[in-house]
This record gives sequence, structure tokens and C-alpha cells, in this order.
Amino acid sequence: MLIDKINELKAEIEQLKADNAEQIEAMRIKYLSKKGQINDLMAEFRTVAADQKRELGQAINALKQAATDKINTLRECVASEDHVEADIDLTRTAYPAEVGTRHPLSIVKQEIINIFTKLGFSVAEGPEVEDDWHVFSALNFADDHPARDMQDTFFIQRNPDVLLRTHTSSVQVRVMTTQKPPIRVICPGRVYRNEAISARAHCFFHQVEGLYVDKNVSFADLKQVLQAFASEMFGSDTQIRLRPSYFPFTEPSAEMDVSCTLCHGKGCAMCKGSGWLEILGCGMVDPAVLESCGIDSKEYTGYAFGMGVERIANLKYRVNDLRLFSENDQRFLDEFEAAHN
Ligand code: PHE
Repeated sequence: MLIDKINELKAEIEQLKADNAEQIEAMRIKYLSKKGQINDLMAEFRTVAADQKRELGQAINALKQAATDKINTLRECVASEDHVEADIDLTRTAYPAEVGTRHPLSIVKQEIINIFTKLGFSVAEGPEVEDDWHVFSALNFADDHPARDMQDTFFIQRNPDVLLRTHTSSVQVRVMTTQKPPIRVICPGRVYRNEAISARAHCFFHQVEGLYVDKNVSFADLKQVLQAFASEMFGSDTQIRLRPSYFPFTEPSAEMDVSCTLCHGKGCAMCKGSGWLEILGCGMVDPAVLESCGIDSKEYTGYAFGMGVERIANLKYRVNDLRLFSENDQRFLDEFEAAHN
């Protein structure tokens, strides 16, 4: 029956799929050309009885329209796919991957570490959550020393023996109790103090402390190594000066200034007219500290020093608000990209 052939062909055409223009052209020839299958049906149509002509004629016309629509739709699909392909340039170089930048404190900390490793120091690290003995007692802090006060120290739990270290001298104690002299270490790390957060103070900051224990270590050795550090860090024309000071764990103790990195000693706003900038504390390790760590203070002497990484970074990069270091402001962090990647 002609109607069955029409319906079969319609179903077949509805299923058609094509990948390219050639395939579509072949379909057009197969179904819609003069010698195509639809024209064959037309020939057959002429032979049907007059009373069926109306119905079958409409069916064939609908089939022809459906085939034409289908071919056009397939053409559009293939053309738009070609278009997408044309937009992809496989030879173009990839966009550069955005990599992160190193934090200014990491940059400065690494610079400090590099200088001291060249001078023969190795790096020691220790826990941030400490006990009273490693942070205070072993370092000759009297029981009633104000630094143990709640004002400065963060205690963990109700137990006053579990606390956040207030300096990395605790790591030096750990090294002295586990290693035998000669000891030559630097201890970089984060420390915590209970201070109100402002441009000039924070509840945490970073230190690099150093320790040298051996036979016949003298204050002159300390001065020498600190001068070498200052020259490397701030430039070869940098001068240092040591002022007497006090720390429970060193005797004698001193604070070290460097000649102002901005005005080179003439006096400016940064050094408040003095020409000097304070950068670290130091001294000869108190014999009582050596003894409490199990080192014979008659045989050995030592020196120690400690500096704040933020302080050095402030001087190097003229950052005048400590809070910038921990706020993760992308605009601030990106400033350190160019010079150090
Ligand atoms: N521990 C001291 C501080 O945190 C720094 C220091 C270290 C001073 C070693 C002298 C000797 O301030």
C-alpha cells in the first residue's frame, strides 16, 4: 500500500543523522532529487484510484516538506559545528598559569636563614604549643617574672603549664637538652603574645633566634657574626652598635641597632632623628641556662640572639602597619611578586 510506504519513508527520514555536508547532499539526492525515492512515490501516486488521491496527495506533500525541513536542519547543525571548530585555534599558546606569590615574611625569613646558613648555622624547629619549662624556667625566668603574667602569655586550657611560646628560645632549650656542643643553630618560627592588635603590635609574630655553644665562645664572636649579618641584610656600609640591656637568659645582654637604612645615620623620620634602628636582642648565654639544659658551664660558653622577622621586613620594605602581614590583602601581597619570583 502506498500509504504504508509513505509512512515508512517518513519515519526513516526523521531518524537521519549527518556529520558533514557531503552526507547531507547524498541524503538530498536519495530522497528529494528527480530520481529520488519521494519522486518514485509520486509516480506510484498517479496510478491510485481517484477517491484516494486527496488523502495520499496530502501525505506525499507532507513527506516532501518533512524531508526538506530535515535536510535544512541537518545543514544548519553541521554549519554551526564547523563554526565552533573554526573558533578553536589549537596552535595558540596557552595563557600563562597564575601562580601564587611568596609572602613577604617568608621572603625575609628565608633571606635571614640563608645568611646564617652561610655562616655555618643549621635550622632547628620546635612546637608552638609549649610547656612552662621550655619557654621560661629553663631560661632562668624567676617564678614571679612579669613575662609569665597572663598579660603576655596565652595559656591553653586551664593548665598553666600548657602555653603558646612567646619566643623561639624554647627551641634553643630543646636543642641544648638533646644535642652536645658544639651547637650552632637558628630557630625560625611563629610566636604569640597577648597584645592588643594595632599597627605596631600583634598577638603573633615571627622570630629567628640564634645560638652558638662551644668552648671559648666570646662576645667578640657574637659581635662579628651580627656585623656580618647586618652587612649582608642591609648593605655592606651598614654599621652596628650594641647597647647594654637585660634578658633573664643572657649575661651580659645587649640590644643591637643598625645605622638607619633610609638616611644612613644622618637622622630622619624613620629613625626618629637618631640615625639608628633597633633590630635585635642578644647576649652571652647565662651559665644557669647552660646548666639547666645539662651543659657544663665551666667547659662551655655560648652566645644567643633573637630578632623579629616583621621588624626586618618593615625596614626592608617600609611596611608601616604590622596588620598588613596577616590580612591577606591581594593588593599588598602582589607587590612582592615582581622582585622575588
Ligand atoms: N628571646 C628574646 C625575645 O623574644 C630575644 C633574645 C634572644 C634576646 C636571645 C637575647 C638573646 O625577645
